[in-house]
Amino acid sequence: MSEAASRLPFSAKSRRTVEQPISYLIQTALHNPHLINLAAGLVDPRTLPVEQCEQITQRLFGDDARARAALQYDTTLGLRTLRKELLSHLARVEQVPEGELGYSADDILVTTGSQQVLYLVGDVLLDPGDIVIAANPSYFVYTGTLTSLGATVVAAPMDEDGMDADAVEQVLLRLQREGRLSRVKLIYCTSYFDNPTGLTLSLPRRRKLLELARRFSTHHRIMIHEDAAYRELRYDGQPLPSIKSFDRENRHVIISNTFSKPFAPGIKLGYSAMPADLLDAVVQQKGNHDFGSANVCQYIALNALQSGMYQSHVQTLCQSYRAKRDAILQSLSRHMPKHPELSWTKPHGGLYVWLTLPADIDTRRSSRMFQRCVSAGVLYVPGDYCFVADEHGELPVNHLRLSFGQVAPEQIDAGIQRLAEVVAQEINEHGAPKMGQKVTSARA
Ligand SMILES: Cc1ncc(COP(=O)(O)O)c(C=O)c1O
Repeated sequence: MSEAASRLPFSAKSRRTVEQPISYLIQTALHNPHLINLAAGLVDPRTLPVEQCEQITQRLFGDDARARAALQYDTTLGLRTLRKELLSHLARVEQVPEGELGYSADDILVTTGSQQVLYLVGDVLLDPGDIVIAANPSYFVYTGTLTSLGATVVAAPMDEDGMDADAVEQVLLRLQREGRLSRVKLIYCTSYFDNPTGLTLSLPRRRKLLELARRFSTHHRIMIHEDAAYRELRYDGQPLPSIKSFDRENRHVIISNTFSKPFAPGIKLGYSAMPADLLDAVVQQKGNHDFGSANVCQYIALNALQSGMYQSHVQTLCQSYRAKRDAILQSLSRHMPKHPELSWTKPHGGLYVWLTLPADIDTRRSSRMFQRCVSAGVLYVPGDYCFVADEHGELPVNHLRLSFGQVAPEQIDAGIQRLAEVVAQEINEHGAPKMGQKVTSARA
């Protein structure tokens, strides 16, 4: 057989799909168990609800009728009793009566993790060349999904108040001037304790994003995909209403949630509320994928919610993550060199801290800094993974993401100390401050 004849004819979508950059980091961590892994976005293995799930499954399989139902297929939309329970749960989280949510249990879809609904919504709305507006930096698994679907990601910057809604407006106005507004289908926003920055979208910006989606919906309805994966991992500050809560007609916002972060990623369940016409199309497409998420997992989630185990687990989890969040912030203050261009976010929830280094320090995987960190025994996620290149193809390379999710509490200080020593070395060699700026050792 000739070489050409034996070649696999991969589809255009498959050819656009590349390996997730994080795979390399996972391999590096596996090969070097002594590394302190501040890269992994995993939840803490110590706080997984093992006993709760044991009790739930014993109850589930101790009841013949329930066990048979759980081991059977259910609908593509998801178990009805679970969707009703999720509606009550969402109303509790939103702190409004169910009737004020603007959607019903029939508008809720259960998916195989929230990643599946990110994919499915993209799949039913986006043709190659269509535009999604996302924050810069953004959740890089999703931007990879968008690339695979052939979409163009147009980035809007972020600041302490989350995605910059004024910048989104400027992007929309520019696209309108260029005659490209008809290609804009989605605005993607992680509205709570963002991955990778840990930052939260402010209340005025929540209202403004929805106002923009409404105002610029001249060719078709522009949707906002509100990714609320980390919403329930809140350690301080006031709860904020979702963008979805302002979409009382259920027309412009998809809100996706997950059991992965506040309960257990192993049950791989997500749930979303969205407009009925979009939901119909998404359900058809989910039918092509799996015609329904694992029913046993849906029964576990149902039981966890009905018994109150879920709610008390979230409280325990928040206490444990709050202590780790405090520990990482204290260690950063203690060990990081003082430099006017060195800063980090102070998240009120979630699993991430975002570190900004002086502009001439390169944190990329190919950089000396990254290699030095691996040699010193600490791993981070290079920030360039999370950025979309600007119109000149430029990516900022002086950021990094730290996660306090998986790391053991007693390793946090040592991990940050190792990182800080490499940062100090880099600053001394390259990132010395400009005239008039002063660097002092944090421990001095
Ligand atoms: C922002 C964000 N959205 C969605 C997901 C998907 O999670 P899952 O599919 O487990 O619900 C993740 C996972 O890390 C995430 O960080």
